[in-house]
Amino acid sequence: MGLSGGVDSSVAATLIHQAIGSQLTCVFVDNGLLRKNEFEEVLDSYKDMGLNVIGVDAKDRFYAALKDISDPEAKRKAIGNAFIEVFDDEANKIEGVKFLGQGTIYPDVIESVSVKGPSATIKSHHNVGGLPDFMKLEVVEPLNTLFKDEVREVGRALGIAETIIGRHPFPGPGLAIRILGDITAEKVKTLQEVDRIFIDGLKSHGLYDQVWQAGAILLPIQSVGVMGDERTYEKVVALRAVGSVDGMTADWIHLPYEFLGKISNEIINRVKGVNRVVYDISSKPPATIEWE
Ligand code: XMP
Repeated sequence: MGLSGGVDSSVAATLIHQAIGSQLTCVFVDNGLLRKNEFEEVLDSYKDMGLNVIGVDAKDRFYAALKDISDPEAKRKAIGNAFIEVFDDEANKIEGVKFLGQGTIYPDVIESVSVKGPSATIKSHHNVGGLPDFMKLEVVEPLNTLFKDEVREVGRALGIAETIIGRHPFPGPGLAIRILGDITAEKVKTLQEVDRIFIDGLKSHGLYDQVWQAGAILLPIQSVGVMGDERTYEKVVALRAVGSVDGMTADWIHLPYEFLGKISNEIINRVKGVNRVVYDISSKPPATIEWE
């Protein structure tokens, strides 16, 4: 079973674990696109749940697969393929594996599959579309007819900790779809720092639970600024916070101006290479929650 640290795969893993016990092996991949320190923190939280989890450091593989790719759909495909390669490697190390568990939920399926053909696909979710022929595993997706709020209900009924159930959604392709343009380790590091300041700020100001999902986006442009007497020409980041029930539609959240001002100052003062912060006030539709 592929685990991501998010609500969906944690609930799916717990269900499958109750069904097949110690026959379940979970794989949690560090794709180099997670939030700051997330790999270590999430591995720790799974220990408490009694799941058998193998942590795989695959950062270099994902960065190599993403090298020089800027197109959003091409990034998603590259990431999906890299995940499949990692799972295939890990599955080959375990004897007698026949199934691959995934935390796919209903909105992932409907946004990836269009009745009007591939050109009308909104976004190819990284974990939807089946496995390549060389992988002789059958996919098991116990949540693929449920919406996020229903998945949370199942998770609570299973007694999963609120720290996991209450987590904001985070996309499988991770920060790669919040870095517009090509991906480098340096850009990931910059965005991780910005994201951490924003999310920690939401938590310390009691705003985290009022928001369905929040994150930061690194834009592929530079802007002129001034620091002391010096001209700067540095990166711009956008902050996004939305309210939603199931992710299918979403409204931007009216975060307090004082909070936004404070977070903006903190980001510009603490994150090297960023000199401007903007706030995304678009709702879905017509915008989507992620920028890519
Ligand atoms: P959008 O951007 O389509 O996002 O409005 C709706 C919800 O889906 C998440 N998302 C993804 N989750 N794999 C995932 O596991 C993906 O490829 C993917 N793309 C978007 C997004 O974060 C939001 O919660």
